[in-house]
Order: sequence, then structure tokens, then C-alpha cells
Amino acid sequence: MTDRYALIGMPLGHTKSPLIHGEFARQTGQDLTYEAIEAPADGFATAVDRFRAAGGRGINVTLPFKIEAFAYATELLERARLAGAVNCMKFDGDRAIAENFDGLGLVNDIQLNLGCAMRGGRVLLLGAGGAARGALLPFLEQEPEALVVMNRTVPKARALGAQFSAYGNLTTGGYSDFGERRFDIVVNATSASLRGELPPVPRAVFAEGCLAYDLVYGKGLTPFLRLARDAGAGRIADGIGMLVEQAAEAFAWWRGVRPATQPLIERLSVPLT
Ligand code: ATR
Repeated sequence: MTDRYALIGMPLGHTKSPLIHGEFARQTGQDLTYEAIEAPADGFATAVDRFRAAGGRGINVTLPFKIEAFAYATELLERARLAGAVNCMKFDGDRAIAENFDGLGLVNDIQLNLGCAMRGGRVLLLGAGGAARGALLPFLEQEPEALVVMNRTVPKARALGAQFSAYGNLTTGGYSDFGERRFDIVVNATSASLRGELPPVPRAVFAEGCLAYDLVYGKGLTPFLRLARDAGAGRIADGIGMLVEQAAEAFAWWRGVRPATQPLIERLSVPLT
């Protein structure tokens, strides 16, 4: 029997997830469908209940429902618990088991696809919202020499520091708190690029030849990536690889087989110019 999976979010007009999972299914010979389900702002639980009643085996969750999915889950795995948000679920009878693969997808893209080892590196994460929070545990698990979180609203960065500093060498502060410190990997996890804005990151943070990574995708050369390139970054990347890699983690968790990601990343990438 064909197994059903879905992405639940709002709006989903431009989502690439059905294409990605459809391609993974073809590639691995898995008999499944993957659809996009838009739910009204107060309708997440109802939409999920309906999908489960119709035989749904698992879902991905995107904005604005990642926190609601956290509340809906009956079992939270560690990454989801620490991220405070859920992007993936598996259903088994009454159980709704919840994961968050966003941060792991990002780490896989940085290390496996872009060839930048995080272990022993100096890593800077910009932002302290949901996207940054989701990256913290997977980043710290790679044991960077230092992980710094900078945020415009400093208390939000400090709160992340209080929650995550037990997991590794983590320092937090504002954009002007770190003098001339330079980093090997600089990740923009703010939502600034969505609006064509630039976070107030000092130019000095980019070590010569560093990797600059913007979590948004499909926006071309964002102001952040332009600054990084002009400041001497050796490699710039947007978040399309992260999107495909988190999907691959979800697929492997649901189906027990790991799809290849590189062909899809190449197909979905837009030039960063
Ligand atoms: P997400 O879930 O995408 O992380 P969020 O939780 O609303 O979204 O968080 C948005 C993040 O982007 C925050 O860290 C925000 O900074 P503040 O906490 O100071 O608001 C950051 N952000 C958004 N626009 C920004 C800008 N123009 N400059 C710097 N930071 C910005």
C-alpha cells in the first residue's frame, strides 16, 4: 500500500518539499506520496488529526506551526526538545514522535557538501530566533573551538547561552561585543535576508577564505552574502542544501533508506550573483 506523508504549513505556495520527497521516493523505489497541506492559523491539530485518520504516516512541519507541533507531539526526541520546535513527525498508532532535522541538515550541508569541517573551527551564528536555536545543539555536537551567537536583541542571545552553554564552548552577545574576532564559518540565521536587509554584522568577522552561509534560499546574492564575498569569504552558500539535507534526514528516519542529495541540490540551486 502506498504510504502517505505531507508537509503542513501556511502558506505553501512555493514549497519544494513535494518535489524533493517525490524525487527521493523515485530514487530509492519507496512507495509513498508526499503532499502539501495548508492549514489555517488555528487549525494545525485538526489538520494533523485528519491526515492521521486518513492513514498519514508522517509529516514535515513548517512556518508557522513548528511550535504547535512541539505541543502536539506525544514524544519529543532530544533535538526537537532543545530546539523548542518540531519540523518532522512520525505516527505510530496513538504516538506522535517528534524530531527536528533543520540543524542537522545545516551541519550536513556545511560539512559534507561544502567541505568545511566544524570541529576545531571558529563558528559565528547570527540571530537568536527559532532558526538559530535549532542549529545550536547540532553545531555544538561538532565540537567547534568556539561558537559565538550574536543578536540585535542581546537578551535573546543570552537566553540561548544560558540554555546551551552546557553543551560546548558557547559565547553570546551583541554585534559590537566581539572586537576584531574572526571566524571560519559565519552563518546568517536571522530573517533579515527575507526582506533584503543586512544584519549589522562587522565586516571584520569574515576570516580570509571563510565560509559564509545564509539560511534563506532562492534569493540569489543576499546583502549578507554580498558583504561576505566583498570581505574575503572563500565560499558563499544559501540554504538550499540545508533544505534538501533536512528532507533526506526525515526520509531516512521514516523509511530506513538514505537518498542521495547532490543531484537535487544541483537542480534546485540558483546562482548567487
Ligand atoms: P526565525 O524563526 O526565522 O529565526 P524569528 O524567531 O522571528 O524567526 O527570529 C528572527 C531573527 O532574525 C531574530 O534573531 C531577529 O533579531 P531580534 O531578536 O533582534 O529581533 C533577527 N533579525 C531579523 N531582522 C533583522 C535585521 N534586519 N537585523 C538583524 N537581525 C534581524
